[in-house]
Amino acid sequence: MNIKQLLNDRTLAAFTALGLPEGTNPAVTQSTRPEFGEYQINGAMSAAKLLKTNPRELAGKLLTLLDVSDIAEKVEIAGPGFINVSLKADWLAQQLMLAAEDARLGVSINHHPQTVVVDYSAPNLAKEMHVGHLRSTIIGDAVVRTLEFWGDKVIRQNHMGDWGTQFGMLIAHLEDKLAAGIDLEQVALADLEDFYREAKKRFDDEAGFADKSREYVVKLQSGDSHCQKLWQLFIDTSIKHSDEVYQKLNVTLKHADIKPESAYNSMLHGIVDDLKQQKLAVESMGALVVFLSELADKEGNPSPFIVQKTGGGFLYSTTDLAACQYRSHELSADRIIIFTDARQALHFKQVELVARKAGYLRDSTAYDHCPFGTMMGEDGKPFKTRTGGTVKLADLLEEAVVRAKAVLQEKVTDLTAAEVTDIANKVGIGAVKFADLSKNRTSDYIFSWDAMLSFEGATAPYLQYAYTRVRSILRKAEVADDFSAQIMLGSVQEKQLAVKLLRLEETIQMVIKDAQPNLLCNYLYELASLYMSFYEACPILKDDVEPELRNSRLMLSILASKVLQQGLNLLGIEVMERM
Ligand code: ARG
Repeated sequence: MNIKQLLNDRTLAAFTALGLPEGTNPAVTQSTRPEFGEYQINGAMSAAKLLKTNPRELAGKLLTLLDVSDIAEKVEIAGPGFINVSLKADWLAQQLMLAAEDARLGVSINHHPQTVVVDYSAPNLAKEMHVGHLRSTIIGDAVVRTLEFWGDKVIRQNHMGDWGTQFGMLIAHLEDKLAAGIDLEQVALADLEDFYREAKKRFDDEAGFADKSREYVVKLQSGDSHCQKLWQLFIDTSIKHSDEVYQKLNVTLKHADIKPESAYNSMLHGIVDDLKQQKLAVESMGALVVFLSELADKEGNPSPFIVQKTGGGFLYSTTDLAACQYRSHELSADRIIIFTDARQALHFKQVELVARKAGYLRDSTAYDHCPFGTMMGEDGKPFKTRTGGTVKLADLLEEAVVRAKAVLQEKVTDLTAAEVTDIANKVGIGAVKFADLSKNRTSDYIFSWDAMLSFEGATAPYLQYAYTRVRSILRKAEVADDFSAQIMLGSVQEKQLAVKLLRLEETIQMVIKDAQPNLLCNYLYELASLYMSFYEACPILKDDVEPELRNSRLMLSILASKVLQQGLNLLGIEVMERM
């Protein structure tokens, strides 16, 4: 059920009857305040401009033509020409009955599925994953789950960084260790971070080591089998590590979703030759560059996009052009969504411009770089360990679970130790994810353990707890999930809860439009809060509640629990029966 869409269609019909051109926007929105009803139709305002008439008058005419008598109990003009719609309780109850019988909880399925390539997580290998990749992984996974639920065909692409200059350095360092007689088993690849640090130190300080590293990169990229064998060791170890993180984090990325930078290696020569041929890339100081006047600076200097370095090396940018070609032409993507931090915004603007000019992106493929802000510590500076190092993701998640356990142990419950461990895992990981997902992704956000693990406010523990509350009511009432009874919406609280429950599809569509899971987080938080108000105002289990009323309220509770669970599932957050 999509009430907004329904009102939109009805308004469009009225617009047509008024003689307005096709495509005039009815501008239906959810009302922000209950006194304005549940929905507002704002389209009369801009339509009046189009017809050069008074908006309030036009709204009046619109009212006479708008056929909503079956769904609305009151339709009113407000202010300069807004139309406020209050829905009928009976009609809402009917829609809820349909949602209750539906495995998709009333969310229709997309009848025009798109092929959507989602590029997320994408850590740089040979280093451990750090918090910078946390946001991409969490946000990307929530969007992927939502797209799939809606019915799109999603192709996950984990564009891992496995091909850069750092590998020359690592191989050179490893070679020296092997030459010194240390056998491979003893090289501490298990701690890649330490190994990386050692190599980096030599790269910076030791004469000749940097040159040697560069030679190794060239060797590796031109297919030297010995180098490739050593390189593979780093890759395997890193991937094993990232797999563990994905599992711990409950994200849906699998091995088969990895399409790393190196996978595009064989395409890069062709791309660069083609760019030369098309006269898009020109030589500049030994390198090959595409100059983009569209992105010129204030002085009018075009923005340079280097596709091949002096000496012949390819870059991150060349690989991204190849990825455009592959995704748009071979995977037939209708839409490509890429999640990285905001500092790469210019890079992706350049990639899109060049790829469109060169024909690597079809016109029908949308290219959406979705940037996100930096994760900050409570001191307002980029998130670091106490000693100023980068925080490893594995450590962070470990700490989340330990802290969640401590919070849970403060509460008096009859849970066994094993249950507490399981719940702590779900709460700790859920808290980290929800804290990230609930912020508008474009802003920086402050990472605070206390805030994310609180049982108050918009947090995972609050929502998980709300879910367990509803479940405990249902257990006490001894009703099963397929319990069926007539729904009645007598009180304000029941009606408000009902409208919210029927807005899951609208929310999902908004999340998908601009890749913004925070809208689903808001929705679930408001739903849980409305359920709490409903529960306070509308007794369910008390002795003096009429059976029909009790059954109707149980129906609302069942649906609320299912919507909460489904919504959290789209965010990749687990629920439990008790906590
Ligand atoms: N590995 C990159 C990084 O850590 C992110 C890759 C994003 N995807 C892409 N197609 N460039 O910054």
